[in-house]
Amino acid sequence: MHIGIINGPNLNLLGTREPEVYGSQTFEEYFETLKQKFPTTELSYFQSNVEGELINKLQEISKTCDGIILNAAAYTHTSVALGDAVSAIKTPVVEVHISNIYAREEYRHHSFLTGKCVGVISGLGLQGYELAVEYLKA
Ligand code: DQA
Repeated sequence: MHIGIINGPNLNLLGTREPEVYGSQTFEEYFETLKQKFPTTELSYFQSNVEGELINKLQEISKTCDGIILNAAAYTHTSVALGDAVSAIKTPVVEVHISNIYAREEYRHHSFLTGKCVGVISGLGLQGYELAVEYLKA
């Protein structure tokens, strides 16, 4: 079982970026504990601030992954192209957001991804990634 995690723009700054919203742990630290929690699952992680790189990675790992966890960050709310990329692949994609996008600014309430993904987890902090892994494994 191989699950790929893709994080979008500014999520490389987790740990220092608005800790009151996103917490104080870096994703690299969290990813280590995630791998320990699922020792029999192959987990890979990619982050980019560049929209096209996220699309390329989504297409690429869809060929080898059994499931994908996608936090497209701000591109969630702007990118028709990322939504199209999710539609174009057969691998199930779970949309994850660390913060509760529905409790924030109105422009964050719309996602170009949700309708294309198998489901969405929003507002449960970094734990959302773990819950998405559990879902995809099941
Ligand atoms: C986010 C929510 C987005 O609205 C925001 O642009 C992000 C992070 C989240 O994980 O809560 O960068 O996707």
